[in-house]
Amino acid sequence: MLQKMMILSPNKKAFEKLLKTINEGSPVVIPTETVYGLAARIDQLDSIKQIFTLKQRPFFDPLIVHIYHADQLKSLTHFESPILDQLIKKFWPGPLTLVLPKTSQINPLITSGLDSVGIRMPNHPLALQFLKEVNIPLAAPSANLFGHTSPTKALHVQNEFNSESLLILDGGDCQVGIESTVIKLEVNQLTNQIEICILRKGVITKSMIESSLKNVSGIFKFVEGTDKRNSPGHMKHHYMPQTPLIFLNQSLDFTEMIQEIEKDFNKIPDEIDGVKIRKPKGSIKNWTEITFNQDPVLACRELYSTLKEVSEKNDDILIFQKKTYMETEAWEGFLERLNKAASLHY
Ligand code: TXA
Ligand code: MG
Repeated sequence: MLQKMMILSPNKKAFEKLLKTINEGSPVVIPTETVYGLAARIDQLDSIKQIFTLKQRPFFDPLIVHIYHADQLKSLTHFESPILDQLIKKFWPGPLTLVLPKTSQINPLITSGLDSVGIRMPNHPLALQFLKEVNIPLAAPSANLFGHTSPTKALHVQNEFNSESLLILDGGDCQVGIESTVIKLEVNQLTNQIEICILRKGVITKSMIESSLKNVSGIFKFVEGTDKRNSPGHMKHHYMPQTPLIFLNQSLDFTEMIQEIEKDFNKIPDEIDGVKIRKPKGSIKNWTEITFNQDPVLACRELYSTLKEVSEKNDDILIFQKKTYMETEAWEGFLERLNKAASLHY
Protein backbone atom coordinates (compact mmCIF):
# COMPACT_ATOMS: atom_id res chain seq x y z
CA MET A 1 0.00 0.00 0.00
CA LEU A 2 1.20 3.50 -0.76
CA GLN A 3 2.49 5.49 2.17
CA LYS A 4 0.85 8.86 2.81
CA MET A 5 2.87 12.09 2.79
CA MET A 6 4.09 12.47 6.33
CA ILE A 7 6.32 14.81 8.30
CA LEU A 8 8.05 12.77 10.99
CA SER A 9 9.50 14.20 14.19
CA PRO A 10 12.96 12.77 14.74
CA ASN A 11 12.68 9.81 17.12
CA LYS A 12 13.58 6.12 17.12
CA LYS A 13 10.34 5.07 15.46
CA ALA A 14 10.70 7.66 12.71
CA PHE A 15 14.22 6.48 11.96
CA GLU A 16 13.04 2.87 11.74
CA LYS A 17 10.29 3.86 9.34
CA LEU A 18 12.64 5.93 7.17
CA LEU A 19 15.26 3.19 7.14
CA LYS A 20 12.74 0.56 6.13
CA THR A 21 11.38 2.77 3.35
CA ILE A 22 14.75 3.70 1.86
CA ASN A 23 16.08 0.13 2.15
CA GLU A 24 13.00 -1.17 0.37
CA GLY A 25 13.75 1.17 -2.52
CA SER A 26 11.73 4.36 -2.07
CA PRO A 27 13.30 7.82 -1.71
CA VAL A 28 12.80 9.71 1.57
CA VAL A 29 13.34 13.36 2.48
CA ILE A 30 16.05 14.30 4.97
CA PRO A 31 17.16 17.64 6.39
CA THR A 32 20.66 18.98 5.81
CA GLU A 33 22.19 22.26 6.99
CA THR A 34 21.77 23.77 3.49
CA VAL A 35 18.36 22.62 2.21
CA TYR A 36 16.20 19.47 2.49
CA GLY A 37 17.28 16.60 0.23
CA LEU A 38 15.34 13.83 -1.54
CA ALA A 39 17.52 10.82 -0.81
CA ALA A 40 17.99 7.35 -2.32
CA ARG A 41 20.69 4.69 -1.89
CA ILE A 42 23.27 4.89 -4.67
CA ASP A 43 23.06 1.12 -5.14
CA GLN A 44 19.32 1.20 -5.89
CA LEU A 45 18.77 2.41 -9.42
CA ASP A 46 14.99 2.23 -9.35
CA SER A 47 14.95 4.46 -6.33
CA ILE A 48 17.36 6.90 -8.04
CA LYS A 49 15.07 6.94 -11.09
CA GLN A 50 12.14 7.81 -8.81
CA ILE A 51 14.06 10.90 -7.67
CA PHE A 52 14.22 12.18 -11.25
CA THR A 53 10.53 11.38 -11.80
CA LEU A 54 9.35 12.99 -8.56
CA LYS A 55 11.39 16.14 -9.20
CA GLN A 56 10.57 16.20 -12.94
CA ARG A 57 14.30 16.61 -13.28
CA PRO A 58 16.09 16.11 -16.61
CA PHE A 59 18.60 13.25 -16.62
CA PHE A 60 21.44 15.60 -17.68
CA ASP A 61 21.52 17.15 -14.21
CA PRO A 62 23.80 15.03 -11.95
CA LEU A 63 23.05 14.23 -8.29
CA ILE A 64 25.25 14.87 -5.26
CA VAL A 65 26.27 11.80 -3.24
CA HIS A 66 26.14 12.25 0.54
CA ILE A 67 28.39 10.45 3.04
CA TYR A 68 28.86 10.52 6.82
CA HIS A 69 32.51 9.51 7.05
CA ALA A 70 35.57 10.16 4.85
CA ASP A 71 36.17 6.37 4.71
CA GLN A 72 33.14 6.14 2.41
CA LEU A 73 35.06 8.18 -0.19
CA LYS A 74 37.18 5.20 -1.21
CA SER A 75 34.35 3.51 -3.06
CA LEU A 76 33.40 6.75 -4.84
CA THR A 77 36.73 8.17 -6.02
CA HIS A 78 40.39 7.20 -6.24
CA PHE A 79 41.50 10.83 -6.26
CA GLU A 80 44.21 11.50 -3.70
CA SER A 81 45.98 14.72 -2.81
CA PRO A 82 46.98 16.71 0.30
CA ILE A 83 44.78 19.45 -1.15
CA LEU A 84 41.73 17.18 -1.04
CA ASP A 85 42.66 16.06 2.50
CA GLN A 86 42.88 19.65 3.68
CA LEU A 87 39.55 20.66 2.12
CA ILE A 88 37.88 17.72 3.83
CA LYS A 89 39.55 18.52 7.13
CA LYS A 90 38.60 22.17 6.95
CA PHE A 91 35.09 22.07 5.48
CA TRP A 92 33.48 18.67 6.15
CA PRO A 93 30.99 18.10 7.48
CA GLY A 94 29.71 21.28 5.84
CA PRO A 95 28.24 23.04 2.80
CA LEU A 96 30.99 22.15 0.31
CA THR A 97 30.46 19.64 -2.51
CA LEU A 98 33.60 18.24 -4.09
CA VAL A 99 33.37 17.07 -7.70
CA LEU A 100 36.03 14.39 -8.19
CA PRO A 101 36.84 11.72 -10.79
CA LYS A 102 34.42 8.85 -10.14
CA THR A 103 34.99 5.12 -9.72
CA SER A 104 33.14 2.63 -11.90
CA GLN A 105 31.01 1.66 -8.90
CA ILE A 106 28.85 4.75 -9.35
CA ASN A 107 26.09 4.31 -11.87
CA PRO A 108 26.13 6.87 -14.74
CA LEU A 109 22.50 7.69 -13.96
CA ILE A 110 23.70 9.45 -10.80
CA THR A 111 26.41 11.45 -12.58
CA SER A 112 24.51 12.05 -15.84
CA GLY A 113 27.14 10.03 -17.67
CA LEU A 114 30.00 12.31 -16.55
CA ASP A 115 33.29 10.82 -15.40
CA SER A 116 33.10 12.81 -12.15
CA VAL A 117 30.89 12.67 -9.07
CA GLY A 118 29.82 15.37 -6.62
CA ILE A 119 30.31 14.32 -2.98
CA ARG A 120 29.35 16.06 0.24
CA MET A 121 29.27 15.36 3.98
CA PRO A 122 26.34 17.39 5.34
CA ASN A 123 26.66 19.14 8.68
CA HIS A 124 23.33 18.18 10.20
CA PRO A 125 23.18 15.70 13.09
CA LEU A 126 20.05 13.96 11.74
CA ALA A 127 21.47 13.65 8.22
CA LEU A 128 24.73 12.23 9.59
CA GLN A 129 22.89 9.80 11.86
CA PHE A 130 20.66 8.63 9.01
CA LEU A 131 23.61 8.23 6.61
CA LYS A 132 25.38 6.20 9.26
CA GLU A 133 22.41 3.93 9.84
CA VAL A 134 21.86 3.31 6.12
CA ASN A 135 25.63 2.87 5.72
CA ILE A 136 25.41 3.21 1.92
CA PRO A 137 26.05 6.68 0.40
CA LEU A 138 22.86 8.51 -0.53
CA ALA A 139 22.27 10.47 -3.71
CA ALA A 140 20.19 13.50 -2.78
CA PRO A 141 19.22 16.54 -4.79
CA SER A 142 17.26 19.36 -3.17
CA ALA A 143 13.70 18.18 -2.41
CA ASN A 144 11.84 20.46 -4.83
CA LEU A 145 10.50 20.30 -8.36
CA PHE A 146 13.10 21.12 -11.00
CA GLY A 147 13.58 24.88 -11.35
CA HIS A 148 11.73 25.72 -8.13
CA THR A 149 13.24 27.19 -4.97
CA SER A 150 14.82 24.67 -2.62
CA PRO A 151 13.02 23.76 0.63
CA THR A 152 14.45 25.00 3.93
CA LYS A 153 11.58 23.70 6.10
CA ALA A 154 9.80 20.32 6.20
CA LEU A 155 6.57 22.12 5.35
CA HIS A 156 8.07 23.49 2.11
CA VAL A 157 8.64 19.89 0.98
CA GLN A 158 5.12 18.89 1.90
CA ASN A 159 3.64 21.79 -0.07
CA GLU A 160 5.85 21.04 -3.06
CA PHE A 161 4.93 17.34 -3.33
CA ASN A 162 1.45 17.43 -1.81
CA SER A 163 0.00 14.75 -4.06
CA GLU A 164 2.89 12.32 -3.54
CA SER A 165 3.43 9.80 -0.79
CA LEU A 166 6.70 10.74 0.83
CA LEU A 167 8.25 10.50 4.27
CA ILE A 168 9.89 13.73 5.44
CA LEU A 169 12.23 13.76 8.43
CA ASP A 170 11.70 17.06 10.24
CA GLY A 171 15.04 18.65 11.13
CA GLY A 172 13.71 22.17 11.69
CA ASP A 173 14.76 25.18 9.64
CA CYS A 174 17.92 24.74 7.59
CA GLN A 175 20.60 26.95 9.12
CA VAL A 176 22.56 27.70 5.94
CA GLY A 177 19.53 28.11 3.69
CA ILE A 178 21.19 28.04 0.26
CA GLU A 179 22.68 25.01 -1.50
CA SER A 180 26.30 23.97 -1.00
CA THR A 181 29.24 25.53 -2.81
CA VAL A 182 30.23 23.10 -5.60
CA ILE A 183 33.90 22.90 -6.62
CA LYS A 184 35.54 20.60 -9.11
CA LEU A 185 39.07 19.28 -8.54
CA GLU A 186 40.97 18.05 -11.55
CA VAL A 187 44.62 17.33 -12.33
CA ASN A 188 45.94 19.15 -15.38
CA GLN A 189 47.81 16.37 -17.20
CA LEU A 190 50.36 18.80 -18.71
CA THR A 191 51.35 20.74 -15.59
CA ASN A 192 50.38 18.18 -12.95
CA GLN A 193 48.74 21.05 -11.15
CA ILE A 194 45.39 20.62 -9.42
CA GLU A 195 42.82 22.91 -10.97
CA ILE A 196 39.94 24.06 -8.79
CA CYS A 197 36.82 25.31 -10.53
CA ILE A 198 33.89 26.83 -8.62
CA LEU A 199 30.75 25.47 -10.29
CA ARG A 200 28.19 26.87 -7.85
CA LYS A 201 28.67 29.63 -5.29
CA GLY A 202 27.61 29.18 -1.69
CA VAL A 203 28.51 30.27 1.81
CA ILE A 204 31.98 28.74 1.49
CA THR A 205 33.74 31.32 -0.66
CA LYS A 206 36.80 31.31 -2.91
CA SER A 207 38.91 33.19 -0.32
CA MET A 208 37.92 30.74 2.40
CA ILE A 209 39.05 27.86 0.18
CA GLU A 210 42.23 29.71 -0.81
CA SER A 211 43.24 30.56 2.74
CA SER A 212 42.55 27.01 3.94
CA LEU A 213 45.09 25.76 1.40
CA LYS A 214 47.86 28.25 2.24
CA ASN A 215 50.16 25.84 4.02
CA VAL A 216 49.42 22.73 2.02
CA SER A 217 52.04 21.09 -0.14
CA GLY A 218 51.04 20.52 -3.76
CA ILE A 219 50.27 23.12 -6.34
CA PHE A 220 46.83 24.27 -7.32
CA LYS A 221 45.18 27.12 -9.12
CA PHE A 222 41.65 28.36 -9.59
CA VAL A 223 40.25 28.11 -13.10
CA GLU A 224 37.06 29.43 -14.63
CA GLY A 225 34.61 26.86 -15.98
CA THR A 226 34.60 27.31 -19.75
CA ASP A 227 32.92 24.10 -20.82
CA LYS A 228 29.17 24.11 -20.10
CA ARG A 229 29.37 20.38 -19.48
CA ASN A 230 31.47 21.16 -16.42
CA SER A 231 28.38 22.43 -14.79
CA PRO A 232 25.31 20.62 -16.07
CA GLY A 233 22.04 21.56 -14.47
CA HIS A 234 23.45 25.02 -13.98
CA MET A 235 20.73 26.98 -15.69
CA LYS A 236 20.49 30.66 -16.37
CA HIS A 237 17.18 30.72 -14.49
CA HIS A 238 16.33 28.80 -11.35
CA TYR A 239 14.58 29.32 -8.03
CA MET A 240 11.96 31.47 -9.73
CA PRO A 241 8.91 32.65 -7.83
CA GLN A 242 5.69 32.62 -9.86
CA THR A 243 5.36 36.37 -9.49
CA PRO A 244 7.95 38.05 -11.74
CA LEU A 245 10.90 39.27 -9.72
CA ILE A 246 12.64 42.45 -10.85
CA PHE A 247 16.32 42.74 -9.91
CA LEU A 248 17.49 46.34 -9.56
CA ASN A 249 21.06 47.44 -9.09
CA GLN A 250 21.45 49.91 -6.26
CA SER A 251 21.87 52.96 -8.45
CA LEU A 252 18.33 52.68 -9.82
CA ASP A 253 15.20 54.10 -8.28
CA PHE A 254 12.13 51.89 -8.58
CA THR A 255 9.56 54.67 -8.94
CA GLU A 256 11.53 56.13 -11.83
CA MET A 257 11.82 52.69 -13.43
CA ILE A 258 8.19 51.69 -13.23
CA GLN A 259 7.20 52.67 -16.77
CA GLU A 260 10.24 51.04 -18.25
CA ILE A 261 9.44 47.83 -16.38
CA GLU A 262 5.85 47.90 -17.67
CA LYS A 263 7.15 48.28 -21.23
CA ASP A 264 9.41 45.27 -20.72
CA PHE A 265 6.65 42.88 -19.55
CA ASN A 266 6.53 41.38 -23.04
CA LYS A 267 10.13 40.21 -22.56
CA ILE A 268 9.00 37.87 -19.77
CA PRO A 269 8.00 34.45 -21.13
CA ASP A 270 4.88 32.70 -19.76
CA GLU A 271 7.01 29.84 -18.59
CA ILE A 272 10.72 29.69 -17.75
CA ASP A 273 12.40 26.31 -17.28
CA GLY A 274 9.17 24.68 -16.21
CA VAL A 275 8.03 27.46 -13.85
CA LYS A 276 4.83 29.19 -14.93
CA ILE A 277 5.23 32.94 -14.48
CA ARG A 278 2.15 35.04 -13.64
CA LYS A 279 2.82 37.78 -16.14
CA PRO A 280 1.24 41.08 -15.09
CA LYS A 281 -1.34 42.54 -17.46
CA GLY A 282 -1.49 46.30 -17.94
CA SER A 283 0.08 48.63 -15.41
CA ILE A 284 1.74 47.73 -12.12
CA LYS A 285 -0.73 48.16 -9.26
CA ASN A 286 0.57 46.00 -6.46
CA TRP A 287 4.14 45.15 -5.71
CA THR A 288 6.27 44.06 -2.79
CA GLU A 289 9.86 45.06 -2.29
CA ILE A 290 11.63 42.09 -0.76
CA THR A 291 14.21 42.97 1.84
CA PHE A 292 16.59 40.81 3.82
CA ASN A 293 18.66 40.86 6.97
CA GLN A 294 21.88 42.88 6.61
CA ASP A 295 23.92 39.93 7.83
CA PRO A 296 24.60 37.66 4.82
CA VAL A 297 24.41 34.52 6.98
CA LEU A 298 20.90 35.40 8.10
CA ALA A 299 19.91 36.68 4.65
CA CYS A 300 20.82 33.29 3.11
CA ARG A 301 18.91 31.49 5.85
CA GLU A 302 15.69 33.38 5.09
CA LEU A 303 16.08 33.68 1.31
CA TYR A 304 13.92 30.80 0.07
CA SER A 305 11.23 31.14 2.76
CA THR A 306 10.90 34.79 1.82
CA LEU A 307 10.69 34.04 -1.91
CA LYS A 308 8.00 31.42 -1.27
CA GLU A 309 6.00 33.69 1.03
CA VAL A 310 6.02 36.76 -1.19
CA SER A 311 5.09 34.86 -4.31
CA GLU A 312 1.86 33.72 -2.64
CA LYS A 313 0.68 37.31 -2.19
CA ASN A 314 -0.72 37.93 -5.68
CA ASP A 315 1.35 41.01 -6.40
CA ASP A 316 1.92 42.09 -9.99
CA ILE A 317 5.65 42.06 -9.44
CA LEU A 318 8.29 41.66 -6.74
CA ILE A 319 11.23 44.03 -6.49
CA PHE A 320 14.68 43.28 -5.18
CA GLN A 321 17.06 46.19 -4.85
CA LYS A 322 20.73 45.30 -4.42
CA LYS A 323 22.34 47.24 -1.59
CA THR A 324 25.85 48.74 -1.55
CA TYR A 325 26.92 46.52 1.35
CA MET A 326 26.19 43.47 -0.81
CA GLU A 327 29.37 44.02 -2.83
CA THR A 328 31.41 41.69 -0.59
CA GLU A 329 32.22 38.05 -1.33
CA ALA A 330 29.97 36.82 1.49
CA TRP A 331 26.95 37.95 -0.56
CA GLU A 332 27.92 36.22 -3.82
CA GLY A 333 25.99 32.98 -3.26
CA PHE A 334 22.91 34.89 -2.13
CA LEU A 335 23.04 37.24 -5.15
CA GLU A 336 23.64 34.37 -7.56
CA ARG A 337 20.30 32.85 -6.42
CA LEU A 338 18.39 36.12 -6.66
CA ASN A 339 19.86 36.87 -10.09
CA LYS A 340 18.61 33.51 -11.34
CA ALA A 341 15.24 34.03 -9.70
CA ALA A 342 14.69 37.34 -11.49
CA SER A 343 12.73 37.68 -14.73
CA LEU A 344 14.07 41.17 -15.51
CA HIS A 345 17.35 42.84 -14.51
CA TYR A 346 18.16 46.55 -14.56
O1 TXA B 1 23.34 21.77 -0.52
C1 TXA B 1 23.21 20.96 -1.43
O2 TXA B 1 24.12 20.71 -2.24
C2 TXA B 1 21.87 20.21 -1.53
C3 TXA B 1 21.73 19.29 -0.32
C4 TXA B 1 20.50 18.44 -0.40
O3 TXA B 1 22.88 18.53 -0.18
N1 TXA B 1 21.80 19.48 -2.75
C5 TXA B 1 21.65 20.08 -3.97
O4 TXA B 1 21.54 19.19 -5.01
O5 TXA B 1 21.61 21.28 -4.11
P1 TXA B 1 21.00 19.59 -6.44
O6 TXA B 1 20.82 18.32 -7.16
O7 TXA B 1 19.82 20.44 -6.31
O8 TXA B 1 22.19 20.34 -7.12
C6 TXA B 1 23.32 19.60 -7.49
C7 TXA B 1 24.16 20.33 -8.50
C8 TXA B 1 23.85 19.93 -9.94
O9 TXA B 1 22.81 20.68 -10.48
C9 TXA B 1 25.17 20.21 -10.62
O10 TXA B 1 25.20 21.57 -11.01
C10 TXA B 1 26.19 19.96 -9.52
O11 TXA B 1 25.52 19.93 -8.32
N2 TXA B 1 26.87 18.65 -9.74
C11 TXA B 1 26.62 17.46 -9.16
N3 TXA B 1 27.44 16.50 -9.64
C12 TXA B 1 28.24 17.11 -10.54
C13 TXA B 1 29.28 16.65 -11.41
N4 TXA B 1 29.68 15.39 -11.43
N5 TXA B 1 29.86 17.56 -12.23
C14 TXA B 1 29.46 18.85 -12.22
N6 TXA B 1 28.47 19.33 -11.43
C15 TXA B 1 27.87 18.47 -10.61
MG1 MG C 1 18.34 21.79 -6.63
